Amino acid sequence: MSFRPPKGTDDILPPDSRRWRRVLRAFDDLAERYGYDLIVYPVFDSTEIFERGVGEGTDVVQKEMYTFLDKGGRSITLRPEATASVVRAYLASGSQIAMKLAYAGPMFRYERPQAGRRRQFWQVGVEYLGEDSPAADVEVIELGYRFYEAINLTGLETQVNTLGDAASRAAHREALISFLTDIQHDLSDDSRGRIATNPLRVFDSKEDRDKLAGAPMPLDFLSGESAEHYEAVKRGLDQAGVPYVENPLLVRGLDYYTRTVFEYVATDLDAAQNAVGGGGRYDQLAEVLGGRHVPAVGFSLGIDRIVLALGDEVEPVPALDAFVVVADEERRDLAVGLVRQLRDGGLRVDMEPAARSVKAQFKAADRRQAHSAIVVGDEWDDGEVTIRDLSRGQETRVSRQTESITGHIQSGGESP
Ligand code: HAM
Repeated sequence: MSFRPPKGTDDILPPDSRRWRRVLRAFDDLAERYGYDLIVYPVFDSTEIFERGVGEGTDVVQKEMYTFLDKGGRSITLRPEATASVVRAYLASGSQIAMKLAYAGPMFRYERPQAGRRRQFWQVGVEYLGEDSPAADVEVIELGYRFYEAINLTGLETQVNTLGDAASRAAHREALISFLTDIQHDLSDDSRGRIATNPLRVFDSKEDRDKLAGAPMPLDFLSGESAEHYEAVKRGLDQAGVPYVENPLLVRGLDYYTRTVFEYVATDLDAAQNAVGGGGRYDQLAEVLGGRHVPAVGFSLGIDRIVLALGDEVEPVPALDAFVVVADEERRDLAVGLVRQLRDGGLRVDMEPAARSVKAQFKAADRRQAHSAIVVGDEWDDGEVTIRDLSRGQETRVSRQTESITGHIQSGGESP
């Protein structure tokens, strides 16, 4: 039996998983500060949610879904993305008020695997439901940008565009179909096949891009209201100090978008998978799923690609505040109790689980990059422990009361 994970999936272990943890924590922290509550929802949903929500003509629905019948004969799909299910959950909740929701977890798409293109990949994301003001778009785009700043991702470009509202999208689509039909003999088979199903996606074709000069663009069909919305979003981004570039060719691969769309691009990665996140407004999605009108905007960021873009410098072992050294085995239980109390007090503390020489314990403390070693020995009977500062080699005896040990360690060895 092979121990390798299935094709297109990864086991993420230390040291790589340390970076994952740092990145996931940074997102969770920032999303909470911006007022996004957590949503937890099923990793699989009924197939219809994605067929309707993501769109029948999209690559995701046509080629990439993990779909199967469960034992009760229901068609089930492993979630290829989050937004359709989050909207379903919001509709199911019956809530009439706006909700700001954040999530993190694995998504599944049957794609041709390569670096940064996985069959199971993680996304973190937010969805701002029930709000149609441009301020919501700005907040969401800004939050994504601040996240990349927080994790020090360099070479990031934020691209924005607008697709217009449903009426302007329909008018543009019709004009585009007629333009593409006129030049169909020059187009690749792929693009030709998309004319009727998903003409916007022809803009994504690398082969055909140069044949599209003069093609009708979404920007040319904007209603006054959509144009105003887009201007307000750009003004808001300027005020927020979020740098962006306008990319009139940015159309996104999922059907539910209206008005604002955006993508975060890591310019240091290969062009084929350098989108480290993307999102936009999807004011019609709730109705497409059979619900009421719920204007909304959100994004999803691809953690696998982000970690790739951060480079392969090894993330250091998380340093311990202290390592407890048992100098005398008879006092092991006391040492275990001390570790427990120090952890309760918020310190990162560890010890060896079984008897080892004092020298070996100090070595373990070094390996774990502990700032201090706390030696539990004879001095315990005098109400004290010895604390050794492992970078300076300096030893001090302090009262074995948890507060005094914690105080000593937190003050970096200066007497409290
Ligand atoms: P998406 O552009 O399909 O949008 O995916 C968002 C991000 O997920 C991509 O930019 C990429 O970083 C990552 N990603 C997608 N597929 C893969 C893959 N096979 N392997 C590794 N990473 C991948 C959405 O999913 C929308 N739900 C975004 C959204 C939220 N729109 C509104 N709200």
